[in-house]
Amino acid sequence: MIQPLIAPSLLAADFANIQRDLEMVNRSEADYLHFDVMDGVFVPNISFGFPLLKAVKQYCQKPIDVHLMITDPDRYLDEFAKGGADTIHVHYETCPHLHRTLTRIRELGCKAGVALNPHTPVSGLVDVLEQIDVILIMSVNPGFGGQSFIPHTLSKIADLKQLLVANQCSALIEVDGGVSLSNAHALLNVGADMLVAGNSVFGAVDPLDAIYQLKNSRQQ
Ligand code: DX5
Ligand code: ZN
Repeated sequence: MIQPLIAPSLLAADFANIQRDLEMVNRSEADYLHFDVMDGVFVPNISFGFPLLKAVKQYCQKPIDVHLMITDPDRYLDEFAKGGADTIHVHYETCPHLHRTLTRIRELGCKAGVALNPHTPVSGLVDVLEQIDVILIMSVNPGFGGQSFIPHTLSKIADLKQLLVANQCSALIEVDGGVSLSNAHALLNVGADMLVAGNSVFGAVDPLDAIYQLKNSRQQ
């Protein structure tokens, strides 16, 4: 049975103990560290950027999954790649020249990801599928951790899975927002390959075990 990829989201870590939390992620079965960049314009919140990415890169042994919730991401792709991003997700809603943006991300040696807001249909990706390594389905409105999962996401993932199969596309489906043990199994059942988890990991009594449980949630 193929296990899902798990990406704990740094946004929910204890920023006063970031090294401790990164060491926990290093010891865990997590596959990536998810790194949320918010600019206060595309989303109504500001998180963190290059200096933290460079610091995290020194301690984090997992590849870094950078989620850019920023306007005009093209301006910053080189710097995020240099700072240590392994995957870079841009938002569909911020990229008028998505084909060019995704091509550039790959040229920089990173995996190319596209994030879709809850209201953005999956059909818009049809003409750039060859340029995409991973599609990030937002299951909350981006901007904050700890929000409730939007149930409609399940049918959206199922539609996306159909679209990928119909086009013989091997891009992965990643889900971000309100993911926990209570919905992980259902998400994997409809086609998700990768789960981002913030509060359900860092807010757990035993974060290592929370990651283990998510990693094994296909069986549950
Ligand atoms: C929300 C971010 C998420 C967030 C998820 O805009 O993109 O990555 O950290 O946090 P939880 O899992 O707590 O919803
Ligand atoms: Zn995110």
